[in-house]
Amino acid sequence: VIDEPYLKNLLLPIAFNQQQVIEASVLIVILGDYQAFEKENIIMIHEDEFQKGYFDASVRDYLTNAAINYYLNKSKEDLKVELIRDASLASMSLVLLANEAGLETITMSGYDSEQLKSALNISDRYLDVMLIAMGKGMKEGHKTVRHDVSKVIYKNKI
Ligand SMILES: Cc1cc2nc3c(=O)[nH]c(=O)nc-3n(C[C@H](O)[C@H](O)[C@H](O)COP(=O)(O)O)c2cc1C
Repeated sequence: VIDEPYLKNLLLPIAFNQQQVIEASVLIVILGDYQAFEKENIIMIHEDEFQKGYFDASVRDYLTNAAINYYLNKSKEDLKVELIRDASLASMSLVLLANEAGLETITMSGYDSEQLKSALNISDRYLDVMLIAMGKGMKEGHKTVRHDVSKVIYKNKI
């Protein structure tokens, strides 16, 4: 979460001078963590759930092994897709919670990824997925359209 004015100013040209970078209360850099898929992390999460009594040891072992095997043979490119999936779900939840709390958000892909990582010292352990500018809305944004559902939903076949 970036709220230091000097960092916002540093990021301004990296995000193509989009003013919300400096005007929003915070600029959130959504990162995916490649270490999330490592065996130790998967074991730790399921052990934690087991210790909390959420399931018994056989479910713990089944879920742990299933998750380890799921990620085991994936390429870096495959893991990147997994991270984008996970981080995007988390981002949408964050946006909905922020809206519920009366805050406005702008999800942003308009920035230079390499420059952002370099400016913030973000290592290769992380994948930058998006930026979210967040704060109190000062003026009403313009309306946006949605596709008619019949245009984007296919039932049983595409
Ligand atoms: C992947 C993605 C990237 C976006 N990048 C930017 C951006 O860099 N700058 C910007 O002003 N809006 C950007 N937008 C658009 C804003 O997020 C936009 O205000 C929002 O999608 C509108 O949401 P609404 O239709 O729910 O109002 C982006 C949207 C998406 C989905």
